Amino acid sequence: MKMTRRSFVGTVGLGSAAGLLASAGLTSKKANAASSYEAEAVYDGGIMQLNQNESARGPGPKTMEAIRSHVTRRVGRGYAPDHVNELRATLADGYGVTTDNVILSTGSGPLLVGAARAFCSESKALVTTGPTYTTAEQTARLIGAPIRSIQVDSSTMGVNLEGSAEAAVGAGLVYFCNPNNPTGTVHSPEAVESFIRRVQRESPNTKMLIDEAYINYAADDAMQTALPLAMEFENVFITRSFSKAHGMAGLRVGYALGQKATLDAVSSAWGMGDVNMLSAIAAITAFNDKEHIEWERQENTEIRAFVVAAFNDMGYEIPNSHTNHIFVNLGKPAKGFRDACLENKILVGRDFPPFEQTHCRISMGSREEMQKAVEVFRKVLA
Ligand SMILES: Cc1ncc(COP(=O)(O)O)c(C=O)c1O
Repeated sequence: MKMTRRSFVGTVGLGSAAGLLASAGLTSKKANAASSYEAEAVYDGGIMQLNQNESARGPGPKTMEAIRSHVTRRVGRGYAPDHVNELRATLADGYGVTTDNVILSTGSGPLLVGAARAFCSESKALVTTGPTYTTAEQTARLIGAPIRSIQVDSSTMGVNLEGSAEAAVGAGLVYFCNPNNPTGTVHSPEAVESFIRRVQRESPNTKMLIDEAYINYAADDAMQTALPLAMEFENVFITRSFSKAHGMAGLRVGYALGQKATLDAVSSAWGMGDVNMLSAIAAITAFNDKEHIEWERQENTEIRAFVVAAFNDMGYEIPNSHTNHIFVNLGKPAKGFRDACLENKILVGRDFPPFEQTHCRISMGSREEMQKAVEVFRKVLA
């Protein structure tokens, strides 16, 4: 039996993943009504990659077309590459700020390295979360900066904002990932605002990096960008990535938004790389294609609901995710589960201390991939 998109959502709503799989599961989606976009499963060497929170669908059709149509001899001229300044201006316009408030980078990774190098030192600690994305922490460790890692709240698995604010006093940099990787949790605009205001009041020299790499996957009303606070406080800045909902991890584009003095300090502490002209035109197109991003968010939401329902049906709990990954409480070490999945040609997430004895992160693939993956999860957890 084939399922329509509507009947799929309805079935997930009933909560029986077993019945869902038996009757049909995630059907191959015929077309994106918005853009006639055909989703394709992307396998690498026959291994399904559910380990790095990349996009299984890649860029949208308009972005793909923009890349194709710019593959001309013009790429021979690139030391002042076309479209890079235009990308910066597009982002500035899109957020209602000036180009001085935007810096580009080759993925958002270099921004996290630059931030830790600019604002942490042997006498200036990094405040981070356990677990969260670790680039800032790895950099702080490398340069000998003290690390204050505040464990997530064990009941909600959300970032412990209270504990982080206390730890922030006298620190060089607070790294706050919202939504958080790997837990998938988000914090409301009110919670983020009072956290930022408290830290800036109690520790006025501490910089704060709000990493919004997954913001496009968050549910309506669950969160808002911290950009207004970045425009209010010179110490606060946000980072974004084209690697997630925009499906461009392989094209390496990220950016930071904030005040010039802070962004200059980040970019002079570490090379941001040069965004190339094809990546720039792709990013402009992807940023402007709001319809596709909304489709991508919806697609991810439905797929994630299907997978969460399957785990819940097996008796496992998952913190409410606003990202393209879930952090499943398996109640046993992630390694055994990961090895068993790999025997079935599926890669799932690495260990995330301090939860490696209980939780595993699984990135969401395409509909087709997750239908197969859920069968494997059922088999290896049986
Ligand atoms: C929270 C978070 N921030 C930043 C990054 C870096 O991504 P990129 O360098 O591709 O923008 C990642 C990648 O997984 C991430 O999960």
